Amino acid sequence: MSHELKRLVNKISDEALRKQVVDLIEGFTVEIGGVVFEGLSLEATPGGMRRHHAYWEGLIQHTMASATIASALCDVIKEIYRGEVDRDVVLTAVITHDLMKSYVYRLTEKGDYRMSRLGERMDHLTLIVSELIRRNFPLEVIHAVAAHHGRNGPISPRTIEALVCFVSDDADAKLNGEVLNAARFLLSDCAGVRGVPLTAEQAFAVVRAKQTRGCEGVKKELEKINAGKSSPNTSFSGATSQDTLLNP
Ligand SMILES: [Fe+2]
Ligand SMILES: [Fe+2]
Repeated sequence: MSHELKRLVNKISDEALRKQVVDLIEGFTVEIGGVVFEGLSLEATPGGMRRHHAYWEGLIQHTMASATIASALCDVIKEIYRGEVDRDVVLTAVITHDLMKSYVYRLTEKGDYRMSRLGERMDHLTLIVSELIRRNFPLEVIHAVAAHHGRNGPISPRTIEALVCFVSDDADAKLNGEVLNAARFLLSDCAGVRGVPLTAEQAFAVVRAKQTRGCEGVKKELEKINAGKSSPNTSFSGATSQDTLLNP
C-alpha cells in the first residue's frame, strides 16, 4: 500500500474497521465462475477512463482529494450545521469506493486506458459492493459506497455519510475533469497543440498561466511540459474539448 494511502487509512479510528480496510486493500481479488481476473496495481489505476484522473496514480490522487473534501464537509456539518456524522463510515467509503477500477480498466501499450475484459461486463460499483458484502463490512459503509453515484447509481444516498461520500467524489471528479479539459483547450487555442499528455498539476499550471500571463504564459508552460516528458506520471490526453467551464 502506498505511503499516502496508509496515512489516510490510519485516520480510521475504529480498530476493527481499520483492519478490515487494510485487509481489503492488500488482498482484494475478483474471481467469477472459477475465472480469476487480473487487475492493475493501485499505482497504475486511473480515477476514470477519460472524464477525470485518467492517468497513472489517478485513483490514488482521486481518493486522497475526495477524502480531503469529505473531511472538510464533515467539519461543515459538525461546526456550522450542528449535525452529526460518522467520520469512520465516510472515510472508509471514500477510500474503498473506486478500488475496483483496477479491474475494469486496462493500460494499453500506448499508455492510455481502455475497458478490461471484465469491465465490458461489470462496473466498478457492483464489484466493490459485492466484495464489501463478502467481507462483512458494516451496512452503513456498504450503503455509502453503493450510493456514491447519487441518482445515477443503483440507490441514491439515504444517510448523511452517503451524501458526504457522493458530494466529495463528485466535486473532485468535476474539479479534475474541468481543469484538464480547460488546459487541453488552452494548449490547442494558444499553441495549436493537441493530445499533450497532462497531469493535473500541469493542467492547473496551464490554466493559471493563461489567467495571469495570457497565451504567452501557456506557451511557456508547454515548453516546461515538453522538457519534462520523460516523467512517469504522464496522463492520457483524451480529446480536446471546447465545452469547458474554464473556457475563456
Ligand atoms: Fe465510482
Ligand atoms: Fe470516485
